[in-house]
This record gives sequence, C-alpha cells and structure tokens, in this order.
Amino acid sequence: MRWRLAARARVGAFFGAFAGALALGVPALARAAPDAVHGEQVYARCLACHALAYDRVGPRHCGLLGRRAGSVAGFNYSAAMKKSRITWNDKTLDRFLTKPLNMVPGTAMTYDGVADPKDRADLIAYLKHANDSPECAKRLH
Ligand code: HEC
Repeated sequence: MRWRLAARARVGAFFGAFAGALALGVPALARAAPDAVHGEQVYARCLACHALAYDRVGPRHCGLLGRRAGSVAGFNYSAAMKKSRITWNDKTLDRFLTKPLNMVPGTAMTYDGVADPKDRADLIAYLKHANDSPECAKRLH
C-alpha cells in the first residue's frame, strides 16, 4: 500500500516538527497532535460495515468531511440520519462517534461508539487523510 507509506512519511514529518516544538517547550501542542497512522488501526473497527470507496452495510467514507449526513446517493439511510441536518466535520464526527445513538436517535448504525477521545481524534485524522488515497481519488475521475 503505497499510500499508507506516504501517510506515514507525512505523519513522520509532522512529528518531527513537533519534536522541535517540544524542544522549545510546547508540550501541550504535542499532546493534541492527532496520529492518522494510529487512526487507520482504529478504522479497522469500522471495516465490519464500512469501506472508503463503496457502500456496504454503512455508506462509503470517501468525501465524508464536509458532506451532509445522509447524502450518499443510492444508500438506504435511516429516516433519522436523513433528517439529522448534520454536516460532517471534526466536531460533529467527534460527537457522533462517541455514541452514535445519542447524537442521532434512531440511526441504523448499531455501533456503540469509540469511547477514547484520542482514538476518535486519530480516527478523524485518518478519515481526512483517506480522502487523498488512490481509493478515494479513483471515484472522482
Ligand atoms: C455495525 C455496522 C457499523 C459499524 C461497525 C460502523 N458503522 Fe458507521 N454506519 C453504519 C450504518 C448502517 C450507517 C447508516 C446510518 C443511518 O442511516 O442511520 C452508518 C453511518 C455512518 C456515518 C454517517 C455517514 C453519512 O453518509 O452520513 C458515519 C460518519 C459513520 N457511519 C462512521 C463510522 C465509523 C468512523 C465507524 C468506526 C468507528 C463506524 N461508522 C462503524 C454501520 C456501521
């Protein structure tokens, strides 16, 4: 997977920069840095139902950031998701993934959620990177 390696290199460069910041004494910033490589591991939990580039039990995740909830054409969403009026961004994804049923009562996503805040942040960072993957790029051409 060439893309995974590329993502690693990017994240590596990112942490290199943070190591520099640490030396200058900015530890709070380093703590907040999301780790897309770890996020890819967290995404394994989603693969039971989702894929990046095609619909399965759940809708595809390419193009997720910035998209209206319930808007993938041809995917059979619950009425609750279609009516939710959510736009997916860092904040809304973090809330939804904490406990899907709390944010969208009646959602068909029968998944309890990702309890750990760092796991969620890393997962969201991965979903952003995934938009640049060849899998997602193919859909756009
Ligand atoms: C048990 C199957 C299942 C698992 C596991 C699962 N999902 Fe879902 N997901 C669904 C279904 C089904 C929907 C459609 C929900 C609806 O229509 O109410 C959905 C919808 C979503 C949506 C809304 C997408 C849109 O187009 O509006 C997001 C975001 C999402 N899932 C993210 C995740 C992430 C991230 C994970 C892993 C932590 C995950 N899901 C795990 C089944 C699952």
